[in-house]
Amino acid sequence: PEAGQQPETAMSDTRANKQFRSQEWFDNPNNPGMTALYLERYQNQEYTREELQGGKPVIGIANTGSDLAPCNKIHVFLMDRIKAGIRAAGGIPMEFPVHPIQETGKRPTAALDRNLAYLSLVEVLHGYPIDGVVLTTGCDKTTPAMLMGAATVDLPAIALNGGPMLDGWWKGERAGSGTIVWESRRLLAEGKIDYEEFMSRVCSSAPSLGHCNTMGTASTMNAMAEALGMTLTGSSAIPAPFRERMAMAYETGKHIVRMTYDDLKPSDILSRAAFENAIIVNGAIGGSTNAPPHLQAIARHAGVALDVTDWETIGFDVPLLVNMQPAGEYLGESFFRAGGVPAVMGELLKAGKLHEAAMTATGNTMGVNLAGVESVDTDVIRPYDRPLREQAGFKVLSGNLFDSALMKTSVISEDFRQRFLSEPGQEGIYEARAVVFEGPEDYHDRINDAGLEIDERSILFVRNVGCVGYPGSAEVVNMQPPDALLKQGINHLPTVGDGRQSGTSESPSILNASPEAVVGGGLALLQTGDRVRLDLNASRMDALVDEAEWQARRDAWEAPEIRSQTPWQEIYRRHVGQLAEGGCLELATAYQRIRKDLPRD
Ligand code: FES
Ligand code: MG
Repeated sequence: PEAGQQPETAMSDTRANKQFRSQEWFDNPNNPGMTALYLERYQNQEYTREELQGGKPVIGIANTGSDLAPCNKIHVFLMDRIKAGIRAAGGIPMEFPVHPIQETGKRPTAALDRNLAYLSLVEVLHGYPIDGVVLTTGCDKTTPAMLMGAATVDLPAIALNGGPMLDGWWKGERAGSGTIVWESRRLLAEGKIDYEEFMSRVCSSAPSLGHCNTMGTASTMNAMAEALGMTLTGSSAIPAPFRERMAMAYETGKHIVRMTYDDLKPSDILSRAAFENAIIVNGAIGGSTNAPPHLQAIARHAGVALDVTDWETIGFDVPLLVNMQPAGEYLGESFFRAGGVPAVMGELLKAGKLHEAAMTATGNTMGVNLAGVESVDTDVIRPYDRPLREQAGFKVLSGNLFDSALMKTSVISEDFRQRFLSEPGQEGIYEARAVVFEGPEDYHDRINDAGLEIDERSILFVRNVGCVGYPGSAEVVNMQPPDALLKQGINHLPTVGDGRQSGTSESPSILNASPEAVVGGGLALLQTGDRVRLDLNASRMDALVDEAEWQARRDAWEAPEIRSQTPWQEIYRRHVGQLAEGGCLELATAYQRIRKDLPRD
């Protein structure tokens, strides 16, 4: 549906006698002292006593945009429209800031801050007079952080994406966020472009406010939010500068008021069926390998059973329907015009692949939201029976190097498949010599070292870059081959690691290996020169080292010293779990819903 034309819902009209939790702050005759203190300080800005004691819902707006967070900066300008919508529906808007998580700005990695923003959102929603919340989303980790927090507190909540940037262009060709970086890095190493052209090429991919215009982690996670049912229909793909984005902000503000009256909460929406829908949509859009840990984290905070292996069992056979970089050719504007996420889901629904009874933030089921919706440009969003490729989901590998690691097969190029996976009689099987790096610094120092004897048959490994090791898990597994190989036209070698890779990368890496090396995962025992065997048919990867030798290495292994730069890094490292389990603060997963048995005002 057009923004502003959301279908009417079957919500009940319970406005007359609804008692909101914010009244415990603003209108509590049993505690006049506290009530007066709350009232006077909110009254001295724009709110009146009549409003605050009028029984209207207070709607928090979690603002993830700021000067430090340009991917989400559009929300600073959308605030007026969200607030207008909330007021039009009879709610009281209260905007508050969220700890910034800028993927391209935060050192050592933005992933470290997902759980910090999560924690602080939980604290705000729990501790302030908020009855419902608009979660502004966009850049990679902002979306899961907001959904994780909403799942924990379980107040009525709806996500509003800021939308992707306009399409980037360079010399008449689409220049996609991130994807152009990987390509330009290769051209620079091959000596085909210089430093200045490198800068111009990459900057051309960011022509406006908004998040990455490729199907990177930002577009993926916002598609996930919509597939989970946590947004209005059609909300996630609208480019940031479009008029429809402003209309959607207004509509979302209006709608959250209704959700608070009907007490429609994340726990009503985030069901196992919703997560299965999201996994299927991820395959069809060619989504990021960052989606599994983020979805896992949301599921755990929502108390829904999900396992990393679900990504292969439920997701692997899903065909790629969306022709968008890095797996395809188009960018966000085309995706939006072709119908965005509802069109993809409509095609999947027609093919009988989705749970249509899953409840959504609209108050209707996914089936009702999507009725009659289909692709309006079948070059950009393909029909189910005419996909860009079959089996576009993830492989979940295991073996003696890790209990689980992911491989995004939709980005395996024909050239790569020919070179590595097509030995006659051995299709999908590959054996090679391992070259091991201890982290991104070690990789940069040594990748061009001829002594490593890296050839076109090598597999590159990087370890100590997971949640505990890095800390936060770094997007560094998509390592580029040495310059000498690039000059021969070898653009990709198989790469493996306990970190992640950018959702905008087209590298067919094996990543998110869990458990990571620094906590004693098998990757810690690998040595340069070992033979390693990848078997995609059996979903396995193993070091071909004999049992006794492997055990001897394990006995000799000592956990490396871990040094943190900030207090948060240390707290994070003490409490974080592995990527396969979502990289959550483990102690936080015990908290679900607001505890009413522990009053303390
Ligand atoms: Fe922020 Fe891609 S870097 S959305
Ligand atoms: Mg990234």
